[in-house]
Formats: sequence, C-alpha cells, structure tokens
Amino acid sequence: MAVDMDKLNAFLGRFVGDLGAGVHTGMVVIGEKLGLYKALGAGPATSSELAAKTKTDERYLREWLASQAAGGYITYDDKTNKFSLSEEQAFTLADENSPAYLPGAFQLALGSLAAVPRIIELFRSGAGMGWNEHDEDVFHGCEKFFRPGYAANLVSTWIPALHDVKGKLESGARVADVGCGKGASTVLLAKAFPQSTFFGFDYHDKSIEAARETAKREGVGDRVTFEVAKAKEFPGKDYDFVAVFDCLHDMGDPVGAAKHVRQSLSKDGTWMIVEPFANDELKDNLNPVGRVYYSFSTLLCTPCSRSQEVALCLGAQSGEKRIREVTSQAGFNRFRRATETPFNIVYEARP
Ligand SMILES: C[S@@+](CC[C@H](N)C(=O)[O-])C[C@H]1O[C@@H](n2cnc3c(N)ncnc32)[C@H](O)[C@@H]1O
Repeated sequence: MAVDMDKLNAFLGRFVGDLGAGVHTGMVVIGEKLGLYKALGAGPATSSELAAKTKTDERYLREWLASQAAGGYITYDDKTNKFSLSEEQAFTLADENSPAYLPGAFQLALGSLAAVPRIIELFRSGAGMGWNEHDEDVFHGCEKFFRPGYAANLVSTWIPALHDVKGKLESGARVADVGCGKGASTVLLAKAFPQSTFFGFDYHDKSIEAARETAKREGVGDRVTFEVAKAKEFPGKDYDFVAVFDCLHDMGDPVGAAKHVRQSLSKDGTWMIVEPFANDELKDNLNPVGRVYYSFSTLLCTPCSRSQEVALCLGAQSGEKRIREVTSQAGFNRFRRATETPFNIVYEARP
C-alpha cells in the first residue's frame, strides 16, 4: 500500500500538536500550583522579575515561560524580553472565578494519567478502580474544572429550565445532591437559595470532608449537610429536588441509584441529571469534545463503574437514549432534555 505523503504529513503535524498538548498538561499544573499565571496576570515581566515575584528559580521558570509562549498560553515580546497574558489568556488561566477557568482540567488530566500503569492491568484483568483510589489531583482538578461551568450555568440557566423547580427552591425546598464530590454544586445552590436546605452525598469520604470545609468557609454550613453515602443508600425522604452532577454514569448500578432517588422524592419532586454532552451514536461523538470525554471515561468513569456492584459501565458518552432507559427502568414516567451546553446535557426526570 502506498503511503499518501500529504496525508502522512497532515497526520504528523497533528501528532506534534498532540504531543505538545500531552506534556503541556504538566506545564499548566506547574503554572497554576506555583501561582505563575496569576503573577503574570498582574502585568508583563521578564523571567527574572517573575522569578523574584513568585519566589521560583529563574532558570526553570525561563524554560517554562518558553514552553508556554510556544503553546500560545502566554505572550512574549522580543523587544522588551517580557512575558505577559492577553485579556483572553488572563480570563482563562489567571482568574479562578472566570466561567472558562482552564487549569483544573489539566490537573484532572494529570491526576487521571497517574493511573495509567494500573489501567493497563485493568484492561487485562477486567477489574475496576474506584474514584477514591485515584491521585488527589483527580478530586481537586475535577472540582476546579467543573465548578466554573456550574457557576456560569446552574442557577442562571439550568434550574430555570426545569419544570416548577426554581419557585420551590426560592420558597424553601429539601434538596439532595447525590455524588456531590467536593460539593461545588451543592454550595452554589445553597448560596443562591437561602430558604432551602441541602444534603450532599458521595461515597468518597475525603471529598465529603472537603465539601464540609467549603460549606463552612462559604457561610452555608448551617443549611448544608454533607454525608458519606452511596447513591443507592443515601438517607432521607420527601426531597423536593434531587440532583446528580456528572456522576450517574460513574456508578456501578445507575438503575438501582435511580430507583433509590425515585423513592426518596416527594410526590411532585424532580430529579435533575447533569451528564457530559453526548450523542447516542458513536459516529456522532467522534469530535474534540468526544475525545476528551472518552479518554477521561477510559481512565476514570468506566473503571469506577466496573469497581461497583452491577458494573453497568455506561461510560461518559452514554447519550440521551441510554439515560432515558435508566430512568424509565427505575419507574420515572416523565423524562426530557431540559437544556444543554457544549459540555453538558441537563435532563429532567419526574415520577
Ligand atoms: C466526576 S465526579 C463528579 C463530582 C461532582 N458531582 C461534581 O460535579 O463536581 C463523580 C463522583 O461520583 C462519586 N460516585 C461514584 N460512584 C458513586 C456511588 N455509587 N455513590 C455515590 N457517589 C458515587 C465519586 O466519588 C465522585 O465524587
């Protein structure tokens, strides 16, 4: 078979971009953990000035700065020999409150990749790996990556897209956030709806400890209770609203979890299911967002589900059809796609 040189060169060009992006993961985490982006966000600096400001070694820093400038993550001025952040670079790399803050995604990637040697063994054995067994960067990166999206969409768009939920939350509702991780979504909701009472559940004890700290720090500790519990077993009845953010597909038994949610809801309660954006057919997910999610799913979501009972392994790209089936098997009669963003689909299920 003759190799088409144009196609080969195009593929190799793509490979160089991907390899750069692969090692760039570590570069972004270094930049975030050492406060380099934030320091650069304050104004242009030479490597020596930035080293003094951030108390880091100038030689290492100079190499890092060069890698960032080559990747387009920071800007270099060869006349002044200074590095800086453009408005867009600062918005995405230096401002933790930005709806498009990116470093958490790389921290999540780095933490997930630490599991690769074990994942290779899982491919051979078919065994699972719990969320709790991953590197710490997975938990912190996940929260840092997801929170800005929730802050930008949850209260302003997702809740109003649901039938009759906003009013209930405003006047005082009982809410459960199941698989809440470090509680970013729970705390955002609690701050937005001061009349309501919130319960966050996750099977990972360290995430729950961190969530409790966040609730205290954010001044909502009196209305938010975090408890270690599995989705099939969380306590409480008559919730007006139950939410699951980006975790139904991680569960071994999503149908069992859905049944438990159903019996925990009040008669006219609502279940909101936030899942990664996905189409039903593989061919329709073969795009950059699908690539991100299938990769994280191989490292995190599928092994997590495989480590639990039933081990349904929906995967992070399950799509509307399969999520609908999960809810109908659990006895929910009404199901609809309430809204979506490029990264998430928000479903509404009601008894
Ligand atoms: C991708 S993280 C999402 C965390 C959080 N909802 C968020 O959006 O930031 C998935 C979460 O599901 C939790 N999880 C997985 N299986 C679970 C189960 N069976 N019961 C409760 N939590 C579970 C994990 O511990 C993890 O915190």
